[in-house]
Amino acid sequence: MKVVVLTGAGISAESGLSTFRDNDGLWENHRVEEVATPEAFDRNPELVQRFYNMRRANLKSVEPNAAHVALAQAEQQFESFLLVTQNVDDLHERAGSKNLLHMHGELLKQRCVQCHDVSEIIGELSVNAICPNCDGVGSLRPDIVWFGEMPYFMDDIMAALMDCDLFVSIGTSGSVYPAAGFVQIANQSGARTVELNLEPGDLQSEFQQAQYGKATAVVGEFFGNL
Ligand code: OAD
Repeated sequence: MKVVVLTGAGISAESGLSTFRDNDGLWENHRVEEVATPEAFDRNPELVQRFYNMRRANLKSVEPNAAHVALAQAEQQFESFLLVTQNVDDLHERAGSKNLLHMHGELLKQRCVQCHDVSEIIGELSVNAICPNCDGVGSLRPDIVWFGEMPYFMDDIMAALMDCDLFVSIGTSGSVYPAAGFVQIANQSGARTVELNLEPGDLQSEFQQAQYGKATAVVGEFFGNL
């Protein structure tokens, strides 16, 4: 069986990371437009860098939970298993997932806007940081896909969705495209489509099957019973 899994902020909630839409539209006390758009970065790069430096530092105090571990184990079970995450944390890789695509980028990486080199962030990222590849000063930004930017790996993800037998969406509200459109593509490809979430997401009616509850309970249970 060929499996594609999509995860969102809900899978990391029980590790202690905030989701986006469960807090009156505020995310870590900021409006998303203040910190997660290219315009915000042009307007106030210090604020945006500080915001992501804090979120990056926060990763040190959180651990993968049972849902991340269950997905890493499930990967061993199937002929083909692709994990696509909208999350920018590193909890899937720390749990042991290998075939993993971060479609919205990664907190622990930086990208140079001049030479496009992507590298690991050591310590904090500052507005005056120097690119390790081209030595450009002040050209580094968090390697995060902001609103209005194109998510990564779309060709690979589309190919996997069109060829999968099972598509499972976990801990995502289904409110941000293109990820929100994956269930329709999987349905059109003839795959079985399943939503695992705390509560019905925006796309509830698109899924053929659903199981609601905390990710640490439902993810292991679902894959354990396959
Ligand atoms: P959201 O905050 O929109 O949705 C999180 C979902 O997780 C909600 O449907 C919650 O009900 C559910 N949830 C909360 N706690 C849970 C738990 N313990 N177990 C299972 N589910 C739980 O987050 P995303 O859908 O990930 O994009 O948001 C998608 C994108 O919007 C993000 O990647 C980010 C954001 O703006 C960018 O930064 C580009």
